[in-house]
Amino acid sequence: MKSRLLSLLALSITALPVWAAPAAEDAAMLKLATGSGCMTCHHIEPGAKGPEGLAPIGPAWRDVATKYRSVADAQNQLTRTVMTGSNPYSSHWKGKVSGLAMPPNEVAIKEADARLLVGWILKLDAPK
Ligand code: HEC
Repeated sequence: MKSRLLSLLALSITALPVWAAPAAEDAAMLKLATGSGCMTCHHIEPGAKGPEGLAPIGPAWRDVATKYRSVADAQNQLTRTVMTGSNPYSSHWKGKVSGLAMPPNEVAIKEADARLLVGWILKLDAPK
């Protein structure tokens, strides 16, 4: 009984940093996204309106996570799109967003940071 209590205690202590990590990562990634200008066109949660009540300019990042959930190479693919921009002639979000295409963001963010941010975006619909 006593050892069970002890192991329970040990479990909750070792589990603490795991609980603390997502909040710290969320804050860091939001700061990076805001500082890099992403949030002028994107929201995290679906349902937000864009300028003048139109659809938002870019897709909600939780929707991005859902769309690419089963795409194995999504992190590489989307990092590339973020850096070099999207193709207006083959829009991935046609009809769902009011922006025609995403401009290249390489002036605003380093590739390594974009990769981190995209990795975080792709985890957004994971159960908490
Ligand atoms: C000027 C507006 C604008 C800015 C700034 C912007 N985006 Fe986008 N983003 C868009 C639009 C519009 C799309 C939809 C493109 C499409 O339909 O293929 C998009 C799509 C995306 C996608 C999904 C791409 C796909 O092929 O499905 C990701 C991921 C993304 N943006 C991340 C970012 C990140 C990270 C930043 C900041 C570094 C950023 N965006 C900045 C407008 C923007």
